[in-house]
Amino acid sequence: MSFIDSRRRFLRALGTSGAALASGSWLSRIGFAAAAGPARAVVNQARYRSDLDRRLFGAFLEHLGRAVYTGVYEPTSPLADRQGFRTDVIAQVKGLGVPVMRYPGGNFVSGYNWLDGVGPKAQRPTVLERAWNSLEPNQFGTNEFIDWCRLVNTDPLLAFNLGTGTPEMAVAYVEYCNVDSGTKWSALRRSHGYAEPHRVRQWCLGNEMDGPWQMGHMPARDYGRKARDVARQIRVIDSTLQLIACGSSNTIMPTYLVWDREVLEECYDQVDAISLHNYYGNTPALTGNSSARFLAMNLDMERQIHEIAAVCDYVQGLLKSPKRLWLSFDEWNVWYRARNGPAVDGKRTLAPKLLEEVYNLEDALLIGGFINTLLRQSDRVRVACLAQILNVIAPLVTNATSVLRQSIYYPYAWALKYARGRVLDLTVEGETYAIAATGLRADFARDDQVPFIDVAVTVDQQNKQACVLMLNRDLESERELVLDWRDPTPSRVVACETLTGSDLKAFNTFERPQQVVPRPLDPPAAGARMTFKLPPRSYSVAQLATS
Ligand code: AHR
Repeated sequence: MSFIDSRRRFLRALGTSGAALASGSWLSRIGFAAAAGPARAVVNQARYRSDLDRRLFGAFLEHLGRAVYTGVYEPTSPLADRQGFRTDVIAQVKGLGVPVMRYPGGNFVSGYNWLDGVGPKAQRPTVLERAWNSLEPNQFGTNEFIDWCRLVNTDPLLAFNLGTGTPEMAVAYVEYCNVDSGTKWSALRRSHGYAEPHRVRQWCLGNEMDGPWQMGHMPARDYGRKARDVARQIRVIDSTLQLIACGSSNTIMPTYLVWDREVLEECYDQVDAISLHNYYGNTPALTGNSSARFLAMNLDMERQIHEIAAVCDYVQGLLKSPKRLWLSFDEWNVWYRARNGPAVDGKRTLAPKLLEEVYNLEDALLIGGFINTLLRQSDRVRVACLAQILNVIAPLVTNATSVLRQSIYYPYAWALKYARGRVLDLTVEGETYAIAATGLRADFARDDQVPFIDVAVTVDQQNKQACVLMLNRDLESERELVLDWRDPTPSRVVACETLTGSDLKAFNTFERPQQVVPRPLDPPAAGARMTFKLPPRSYSVAQLATS
């Protein structure tokens, strides 16, 4: 059947998808149309969403649990370098090629005094860290983090304490990091052995200030004014820095969207972006424990992106501003098991085992879905951070002697390795399955259709390569994806792999690290029409050379 035939068939059957559109289905928003038969898309690089900003695949390192202490930094380990950094961790993070790393929090930052973490280590205080009730020895601070960033080849995204912290100390932090010389705070940095400024380009104006759990939590307008004040002073130091205001920390917040509107009404002119956060889980409240619903959650992320973008555009219109804000989805991941009780209480100890989520196959498949969503929305989302990178809700986990790759490592690694160049604007047709709202938490309660196949394509004109990332949400059956390549045309399959398995709950351990790992996928021959056969319950990648 030709593409045109199937399109006609689709239009004839508009009853179904027309109804879906009328009832506000998310399908049209993601460029998807319900149609019988294999999933199919036309690939044409003239139609694209964005020139990929690689910061879309950033990560996050918080002073939390074993992320920094006994993770990144463990001076007593035989694996440590002379600065106390674990070399095996450096190798893994560098190998991933993470473009940007958010630091030092998270909830941690809202009680953090950055001055405690600089200068001679012997003089740094051990403090009670109140976000996670842990001991913070301050042996790893801003300068160590910047050194570590250089070693793993990533750019820092630093956050200010706008909770217990003052605007004065936030601005001093920028001066400490970025001013070359001749001022109080730049002189202090120099006295700490860092003659060169760190040149940190991107900064978060606090963290989750809408959350009652946040130290220094305040009403939206108060936060918006504080953020504006800090931003305005920072612009005196350097008007070109990228400043990200705190948006809603979750779609279930009672202030969701109102917070974002009020904050932006106060500080729109001084900021470049607003943050989005969300964590997802396969729970009775969020999915009814349904893996089929769980694997659709990247479409919930997509909806959140549209909603926050709409608020930004509303405020832009209100203020008649020429500036369009971009979005920073600077915390996202699956996180629902290690989320309560002992998993979030450090009991006043150093490097407690907190938020050590063990990831399974279905989590990894959804992470693939999130990557596709971020690519699809990359015209608006420029920065996004997988939260987090090590030990704490992380793709990488350490023990005393090695680093384990959890299941979610693999889709993230593929995005970093293969997604390059332009993100194409695809129109996809294919079959769908129904999800139901009944019994679910309000922000996930939807009666809608979900495509079995979720696909994203990037084309790197310069290096003549393309990348196809494919999620098959069908839990039972293999599904086909037909790609009609108008421009460019693939000439060779360079790599083709899939992450799949019979047990959605399978996970890796130090003893059995190969339970969820990619395996080769038989690719179709390269050419103008390619039909991928995607295993049930799978996320797959193909790297193609193009002519
Ligand atoms: O990433 C874990 C925590 O989740 C962060 O500290 C906080 O910002 C969010 O609520």
